[in-house]
Order: sequence, then C-alpha cells, then structure tokens
Amino acid sequence: MPFSTDTQGREEAIIELFRATFTASEGAGEGALIGDLVRNLLASTAQPDRFVFTAEEEGAIIGGILCSRLTYEQDQRTVFVLAPVAVATDQQGKGIGQRLLTHGLATLRSAGVDIAMTYGDPGYYAKVGFKPISEADAPAPFTLQQPEGWLAQSLTDRAMTALKGPSRCVQALNDPVFW
Ligand SMILES: CC(C)(COP(=O)(O)OP(=O)(O)OC[C@H]1O[C@@H](n2cnc3c(N)ncnc32)[C@H](O)[C@@H]1OP(=O)(O)O)[C@@H](O)C(=O)NCCC(=O)NCCS
Repeated sequence: MPFSTDTQGREEAIIELFRATFTASEGAGEGALIGDLVRNLLASTAQPDRFVFTAEEEGAIIGGILCSRLTYEQDQRTVFVLAPVAVATDQQGKGIGQRLLTHGLATLRSAGVDIAMTYGDPGYYAKVGFKPISEADAPAPFTLQQPEGWLAQSLTDRAMTALKGPSRCVQALNDPVFW
C-alpha cells in the first residue's frame, strides 16, 4: 500500500477523510470538530512541527495520521503526538491503521524523534507499541478528560522515562476540547 507525506493540493481530501470518518463513528458534531482541527493543523503548523502520513489506494486517500510537536521546555527530548488518526469507514478492520501507524512511527524515528505520544484507545494503540503513561510522568497541555487514553513509547534505545512539564502543543490543538 502506498504511503505519502505529501499534503500539497491534497488538503481538502485529507480534511474530508477525517470529517467523514469521525462523523460515521461519533456523529456529525465530532466529524465537524475533527475536520476543522485537521484544517487548522494543516494551515497553521509549520513544517518542522508536524508530519502528515496518508495511506492510498487507487489514488484515493483511505487513511491518515497527523503528528505535531509537543514541547517540554525543561526536557531535551523531541516529542510528537500522533492525533488524530483515521481510516476510511469502508476500509476499517483490514490492518490499514496498524500499517500506517507502524510506517509513521518508523519515519518519526528516522527523523530523530525521541518519544511518540497519542491519546486514544489503549487496547488499539498497544498493538503498535504504545503504553499508558500518567499525567504526572508526561504532563499534557491540558488536564485530560480521559487520562486512561494518554499513551507513550520511546522511539530510541533508551527506555521511556518521565518527561518534565509543563508541555505545550501546537496552536491548532491548543484547546481543552481536544484533551
Ligand atoms: C481506529 C482506527 C484508526 C483503526 O484503523 P483500522 O484500519 O480499522 O484498524 P486495523 O485494521 O489496523 O486494526 C484492527 C484491529 O484493531 C482493533 N480495533 C479497531 N478499532 C479499534 C478501537 N477503536 N479500539 C480498540 N481496538 C480497535 C480491531 O479489533 C482489530 O483487532 P485484531 O487485529 O486483533 O483483529 C479506525 O477504526 C478509525 O478511523 N476509527 C474512527 C476514528 C477513530 O476512532 N480514530 C482513532 C482516535 S484518534
């Protein structure tokens, strides 16, 4: 399956993937919220602070991950948060999400990212190496509504150890509604 990091001219297709997928899984309100989040992430996040990974089939975008920088000013390590993640509703359950996550994590590792974080279902993300972490050990930018979904993994040979807060996310995610 082809993967891409190219967003130029494909922004609307990426936004629509997220809007439609989250509308199908969590309703129109959540679909609009996540679609707007992806629009803002693409428009307002400078290149060194973000990665976008898409999976394609016959020219159509069927999966996507947006990754953005999480800054811990008192910690030297480079941290990115993978969110949101979507696989088109009619393509789910075929392993596309796991392959796309594995590809994204490998690319982040090659780019020198030390730690990947995400915020979602621990059972699903455990399949690609994420483990739960407490807000004490990795302070989030806002108090989490679902702290059990705060997950991390080291992308280096060094074990995951506590990150010293506070942390700061990119502007598009800088709203407690996402946390
Ligand atoms: C969550 C999502 C990205 C998974 O992508 P996918 O391509 O369907 O998942 P995969 O086919 O790679 O993985 C399937 C496996 O994960 C499990 N799984 C799928 N969605 C899951 C979820 N939400 N929670 C827990 N497990 C899940 C399946 O049971 C399956 O397990 P198995 O391999 O043991 O059979 C996709 O279902 C999706 O876009 N959902 C709606 C949006 C969303 O919730 N995004 C994540 C939050 S940001």
